Formats: sequence, structure tokens, C-alpha cells
Amino acid sequence: MRRPLIAGNWKMNTDRASAVALATGVARRASEFAQLDLLICPPAVYLIPAAEAIAGSKAALGAQNMYHEANGAFTGELSAAMLLDVGCKYVILGHSERRHILGETDSAVNKKTIAALDAGLIPIVCVGEMLAEREAGKTADVIRRQFEGSLAGLTAEQAGRVVLAYEPVWAIGTGKVATLDQAEEVHAALRSLLAQRYNRQSADSVRILYGGSVKPSNAGELLSQPNIDGALIGGASLKVDDFLGIAAAAK
Ligand code: 13P
Repeated sequence: MRRPLIAGNWKMNTDRASAVALATGVARRASEFAQLDLLICPPAVYLIPAAEAIAGSKAALGAQNMYHEANGAFTGELSAAMLLDVGCKYVILGHSERRHILGETDSAVNKKTIAALDAGLIPIVCVGEMLAEREAGKTADVIRRQFEGSLAGLTAEQAGRVVLAYEPVWAIGTGKVATLDQAEEVHAALRSLLAQRYNRQSADSVRILYGGSVKPSNAGELLSQPNIDGALIGGASLKVDDFLGIAAAAK
């Protein structure tokens, strides 16, 4: 029913040559994965060469961030229209590194989400608790606050076009993966928030990705959970074999 989405978030990694090599490697084998969506999200400066490298393949291009305004005096920022112009279909918004290192708030993520949807980009809106929040039993509250803050004001139709990503902060880049129960519990909670806030149709159509130390060796069982519809992959997306090994596990 929901088409799996396997997304690589390259973060602030690669250089021009390695970005092109990685994109080319993914594009070459993308046709092996007809039943799922493959996405690469390179650093912004490499979007154009990456777009050229994947042209004609079924791999899609996404950005790691954007600004909500359409244009103007916003030094250093990129608009949704610019991302579309260079071939992006998706944009990652509210990644925990942007929330916790760059100070991005739910309100900022909300403005970006609306601007992305208005422009025709698919936002991948990230939520996730920190270790101290999980240990204090606050995971459900944090997820609900980020969900409601980031998606405030969306219609059910707009909500149905969003991709959500659950990335427990303590599992990102640490090698610590959430247990299947921990991940599925939050994914199911997100889906019931969608059903309560919008409607069953939106809740059933939204893809909810898991992120945090996903590897070929653990992807199969994560992706077999009923409410886990794909993966948002950091470190393992920087190697073609690992990234596509995760995609193979989603088949
Ligand atoms: P890792 O896969 O490196 O843990 O990163 C996850 C992530 O933050 C993807 O957005």
C-alpha cells in the first residue's frame, strides 16, 4: 500500500568527485529496485552534478534543508523554487542536527514544510527524542510536540503529501539502533497522531521512515515492521553497496 522510500542523507560529506561517483553508482543499479523509491540527498553545492549523474535513472534527488521565503535578502539560504529548479523532488526538514546544532525550532520547520508543499516539493519532516528525554519517559510528549509544531496548519490533503522520519537522536551516528519495539511504537504513535489530527486516509498514505544507524544487517527487520515504510540513512548512504544493500532488504 505504501511504497517504501529508501533515502540517503549524505549530510556534510563528500567532495565533488566522490559525490558524482556515489550518485552514479546508485543510478547505475537503481533499476533493480522497481518496487521502491530511492532518494539521494547530497550537500547543496553538489545537487547539480548529482542531478546530472542520476538523470534518466529512477533515483530521485533531495536537499537537506531550505528556507521558507520565496526569494530576497536572506544571505546563505536557498528557496524551494531553487531546489526544484535544479531537479529536487524532496527536501529533508527539521533534521535533529538542524534542530539541536543549528537551533531550528518547530515553528521554523513548520514554515518550511508549508513552503515546500506549496512549491510542490515533498518534505521529509524529522522528529526524534534525545537520550535524556527517552530516559525521563518523555518520548511520546516530545514526538507529539514536534509533530504538532512542525505540521501546524496543514490541511489533511497537505499532510497526506508529507513524509515523516523518526530519528531517535541517541541512535544517530552512534551505532545504537532503536529496538524493533521502540521504533515501531513511535511509528505507530505517529500514525495515530495523523489519524486523530487529519483523517484515516492521510494516516494510511503517509510514509514514516526510520533513521538512526540503519545498516544492511539491521534494515530487514526494521523495514518489516508494519508502520516502518522506509529508512533515512546517514553513514551507510555514503557507500553504494551499503545503501543499496539496505534497499535490497526493503524488497
Ligand atoms: P546515521 O545513519 O549515520 O546514524 O544517520 C542517521 C541520520 O541522521 C539520517 O538523517
